[in-house]
Amino acid sequence: MAPHGEGSEEAMVVQDENRKPISSILIVIAMQTEAMPVVNKFQLKEDLDPVFPKGVPWIRYHGIYKDLHINLVWPGKDLTLGVDSVGTISASLVTYAAIQALQPDLIINAGTAGGFKVKGACISDVFLVSDVAFHDRRIPIPVFDLYGVGSRQSFSTPNLLKELNLKAGKLSTGDSLDMSPQDEASIVANEATVKDMEGAAVAYVADLLKVPAIFIKAVTDIVDGDKPTAEEFLQNLAAVTAALEQAVAQVVDFISGKCLSEL
Ligand code: ADE
Repeated sequence: MAPHGEGSEEAMVVQDENRKPISSILIVIAMQTEAMPVVNKFQLKEDLDPVFPKGVPWIRYHGIYKDLHINLVWPGKDLTLGVDSVGTISASLVTYAAIQALQPDLIINAGTAGGFKVKGACISDVFLVSDVAFHDRRIPIPVFDLYGVGSRQSFSTPNLLKELNLKAGKLSTGDSLDMSPQDEASIVANEATVKDMEGAAVAYVADLLKVPAIFIKAVTDIVDGDKPTAEEFLQNLAAVTAALEQAVAQVVDFISGKCLSEL
């Protein structure tokens, strides 16, 4: 048997998978404000028979749109503090549990992000992400440094990018809304145009479990602008989630009836 790579048995199985129509998608969204417009657009219903462990705040909405089973998960509100469970830990856990329970064909991680105007980002722009990496996992030991950065490519979707009016760019992920000077240096090294708090973590889990993943990020704040990030983020959140919902709806419409290899 040929080992891995082109022509191997494993590569042929992947090729076959990529030629089957996509039937089930998993949308992972971190914040309720980002999730609800998408839930409403597709008239998704909250799960009454939870697939997640008892007691966790994670919430699943589901429904059928055209020929697609849509599952949307968000990590819910922190059980102690009552705020959205943003960040990499919750995103990883809910993505892992959702893949295990739902076996999706494709993951879409959608959400808001900070954008860099020096790289061409503007408020309300929606990016289809080409690559993801972490910017706050610094381990200056050979090879561990690369593990920390955790750079991964999104599932390649050239036709989707051509068809929809989305910008393309790289995403850098960390667990802080603000940006320390060390984070900034790593973000520059990652060549990122947008910065979020979940993408690379979702990519890690998707890669681990061999599920293709794409990332749609809408810009709420300009990181290299003159406004304080938290203020600008909160000011733009509601309006930008409308742009995000529209982009997710267009992406889902494009996916419907296609196989992975056609994206
Ligand atoms: N989400 C929205 N804006 C962000 C920023 N500036 N950093 C990280 N995540 C974000």
